[in-house]
Amino acid sequence: MATFGRDTEKLLFRHEEGATFLNHGSWGSVPRPVYDERLRLLDEQESAPDRWFRWRVADLWTDNLEAACRFVGAQFQNTAFVRNATTAVNTVLKSLPLKSGDAILVYSWTHHAVRNICDATAQRTGADVLSVDIKIPIKSRHDIVAQYREMLDTHPNVKIAVLGKIMGSSHA
Ligand SMILES: Cc1ncc(COP(=O)(O)O)c(C=O)c1O
Repeated sequence: MATFGRDTEKLLFRHEEGATFLNHGSWGSVPRPVYDERLRLLDEQESAPDRWFRWRVADLWTDNLEAACRFVGAQFQNTAFVRNATTAVNTVLKSLPLKSGDAILVYSWTHHAVRNICDATAQRTGADVLSVDIKIPIKSRHDIVAQYREMLDTHPNVKIAVLGKIMGSSHA
């Protein structure tokens, strides 16, 4: 099991000497085994492009999607790879049959790009955007659950709640 700290960073990442990389929110870097596998796959692609694009990519895509589904407990037929979180939220919101009177639930720290998608969806469909006001510092996770419960009890028109596992906004 890897521990946090400089030794692990050196072991697992390719960051230049003397630099401390903190900006995983904007563009992450990947651990060495992931990086090495990516290079191996690029080599494979270059060595036989026809085979790669005709057959190999589809198999890899399926295998990896199955693995991702096992990891997050999702069903294969309901899951797709997308390029980033913004695309994912946009895809889901665009696929919902929202209408006037419906509501999309966000929270006060929703990532700005994601919030913009919710606002644009509301404009397009006539739905409302409601927000759970989460105060920092958070005293207890039970408070957040209670806030959500109250919001959902009082607004049964909420059709979707958009949650970020990591709070994405630093200036709400
Ligand atoms: C909670 C949250 N949601 C959405 C995003 C947007 O991610 P992306 O830029 O990969 O689409 C981020 C990015 O940091 C985030 O932290």
